[in-house]
Amino acid sequence: MRGRIYVTAPANESIGWRDPGFIHDGIMVNLQKGKRYYYQVGSDSGGWSTTYSFVSPNEDSSETIAFLFGDMGTATPYSTFVRTQDESISTIKWISRDIEALGDKPTFISHIGDISYARGYSWLWDNFFYQIEPVASKVPYHVCIGNHEYDWPLQPWKPDWSSSIYGKDGGGECGVPYSLRFHMPGNSSEPTGTRAPSTRNLYYSFDVGLIEIGPLSWSSKGHRPMYTTSYESRDAPLRERLLEHLEPLLVKNKVTLALWGHVHRYERFCPLSNFTCGSLGMNEEEWKAFPVHLVIGMAGQDWQPIWQPRPDHLTDPIFPQPLRSLYRGGEFGYVRLVANKDKLTLSYVGNHDGEVHDVVEIMASGQVLNGVITPDGVAGRDKGESTTSWHVMVASVLVLGAFIGYIFGFVSRSRKDAASSNRWTPVKSDDA
Ligand SMILES: [Fe+2]
Repeated sequence: MRGRIYVTAPANESIGWRDPGFIHDGIMVNLQKGKRYYYQVGSDSGGWSTTYSFVSPNEDSSETIAFLFGDMGTATPYSTFVRTQDESISTIKWISRDIEALGDKPTFISHIGDISYARGYSWLWDNFFYQIEPVASKVPYHVCIGNHEYDWPLQPWKPDWSSSIYGKDGGGECGVPYSLRFHMPGNSSEPTGTRAPSTRNLYYSFDVGLIEIGPLSWSSKGHRPMYTTSYESRDAPLRERLLEHLEPLLVKNKVTLALWGHVHRYERFCPLSNFTCGSLGMNEEEWKAFPVHLVIGMAGQDWQPIWQPRPDHLTDPIFPQPLRSLYRGGEFGYVRLVANKDKLTLSYVGNHDGEVHDVVEIMASGQVLNGVITPDGVAGRDKGESTTSWHVMVASVLVLGAFIGYIFGFVSRSRKDAASSNRWTPVKSDDA
């Protein structure tokens, strides 16, 4: 093990500021496959933690398991001047249950942006780490960056088309705490435009069991979604760029699964390219291999957009679900991924009951089971049942997965903007 010490960047205001202290960053190397390791953290002068343990990854395993979500945040056990995310408590509780049930099977967590919503307050980052300790002390906690870790008007990456969507969601962090509090593989970096060190943990790849985590392989992952049927117009310029520049790469590289956060709901789409569901090959037309898109930003942050209303009845609370959207829900929770060489299974677990509310299975053969489009419309919508199969062409490799952290600090609506525009709806009031 080797260690490094960092001092985190100060918050951008003096309110609520405190010295963040030191962060000790150790790297364990030469771990044996699939072994349980026991460890403590601390020092002789400051005291030692309880003994924790984890099971190391095993690339020879026939099964890979992961827990996936975005936009979780943290919740303080007291009232404070910063609004926190109560739902995050329940999400961690159920993931902890699932990890416990796995016994000695290795697994990992992937949190796809909008991590703690600390927005410059070190004590909220600390609160976040206390909260995830029951799981993060046992399994790897993988992250990619979201707007609430990075966004700030002075950040250097600011294309002209983004002027309407940039804001202050990062609270002046500019990605610095995100970069220093997590240690992801790779050496990508982006200047902060300040004296602070560059933002890191942007693009990287690594293998976990059957899953290859890396750019443009079997699945990809980003924060702001390419597809959503929420009424979220502010990010439209970004979605247009994703569709124009990224989607052709996803399709060309036969990416099977695209995971997105940012919208604080769960939504599953058919395999998509340019808003068109992949061909079923049912009428002897050529099968088309398109990525299945999942929006999984439902881990804890409870500011939710409404679904898109009818274009000519914008004020009526009727939200038609387009055919490409096969399941959408407002329950908070997470996605459980189980991969073996034959099948990739993704289950949406609600944090109100710990139950599975939606399932999609992607076979190595290319079949997508569940949420099936037929010539008569959508079969199995909202039922979580495997009624028939949908063939899409997929990559010929049997590695499952690969995530891209698409970073570039795009903005989501601020709470204040949300209140004034009335397009984001709080699930509960501030007083709750
Ligand atoms: Fe976000």
